Amino acid sequence: MVAEKTDAHRLASAPGMWLERFGSDLLLSYQSEAARDVVLAELDERCAAYSFQPRRIFGKYLPQHAAERGAPALLRGDATLPLATEVREANILYGLDFAVGYSAGLFIDQRVNRARVREYRPRRLLNTFAYTCSFSLVAALAGAETVSVDLSRRSLTRGEENFQRNGIDPKAGHQFIPDDVLAVLPRLARREEKFDSIIVDPPTFSRNQTGEAFQVQKDFDRLVGLALEVAAPGAKILLSVNHSEMRVTDLERIARIALHLQRRTGRFSSSTPPADFPPGHGAKTVWLELT
Ligand SMILES: C[S@@+](CC[C@H](N)C(=O)[O-])C[C@H]1O[C@@H](n2cnc3c(N)ncnc32)[C@H](O)[C@@H]1O
Repeated sequence: MVAEKTDAHRLASAPGMWLERFGSDLLLSYQSEAARDVVLAELDERCAAYSFQPRRIFGKYLPQHAAERGAPALLRGDATLPLATEVREANILYGLDFAVGYSAGLFIDQRVNRARVREYRPRRLLNTFAYTCSFSLVAALAGAETVSVDLSRRSLTRGEENFQRNGIDPKAGHQFIPDDVLAVLPRLARREEKFDSIIVDPPTFSRNQTGEAFQVQKDFDRLVGLALEVAAPGAKILLSVNHSEMRVTDLERIARIALHLQRRTGRFSSSTPPADFPPGHGAKTVWLELT
């Protein structure tokens, strides 16, 4: 069962394979064509169990190397329907696009952390690695000013569109900065900007505009240190990674060292993992609440 009313959730997971529902469309992620075909063969029965008739089924190959990643392909359904669509989570609309890039536009494992942002009602939220700005949108709907930073101008534009589709003017109290988080954070610190909530959810690996590499295992400590410099007293900071070898205890250890170096204190609290994500699936996340 899904913990919260949403049109986007995971229907099934098995080693190297998972099936996600985005409204009336399904997205099947797989590591081998054999695994994909087994799931496809069982799909009608599975969908009947959920009383759900999918409009389309997309397939996404999960390669070993990020460089081989591609957009999902339509496996079943009407090819003339638009690939750009919308999905609802907790009464908020998000744009999806099955044609652009590896991810359709919403990371559904972060649903519980978006709910935490809504609960916290921050006044000023900094969303680093913002992608399509889902965390910023939740904060904005709760009345916050937001700053969203991402290398991809295209993703930030999708974020602005998400604001608009929920009746929020992206130009009123919100900034969208297409730049490297590791360059933006020191600039914000120099201007003495402070945030009472910060989202730190980087990819495992990326390259910035000048080709410089970001590697989460190597760079996460620097990132947390920089985020602390713009954190207001009492700030709530989401630490989140997807690296297979990094655990929540690693995030806490890195954050403890950063707190010590800046003579600050905080406590950790976890969100209950979403019911549709079995252990080992989804981002590893913990909230650091500054004291
Ligand atoms: C894992 S996604 C973030 C997901 C997002 N937190 C959410 O829940 O929707 C990673 C994002 O980081 C961006 N990115 C990667 N390296 C970056 C960097 N050095 N500075 C800014 N953005 C970066 C990518 O463009 C991508 O949109």
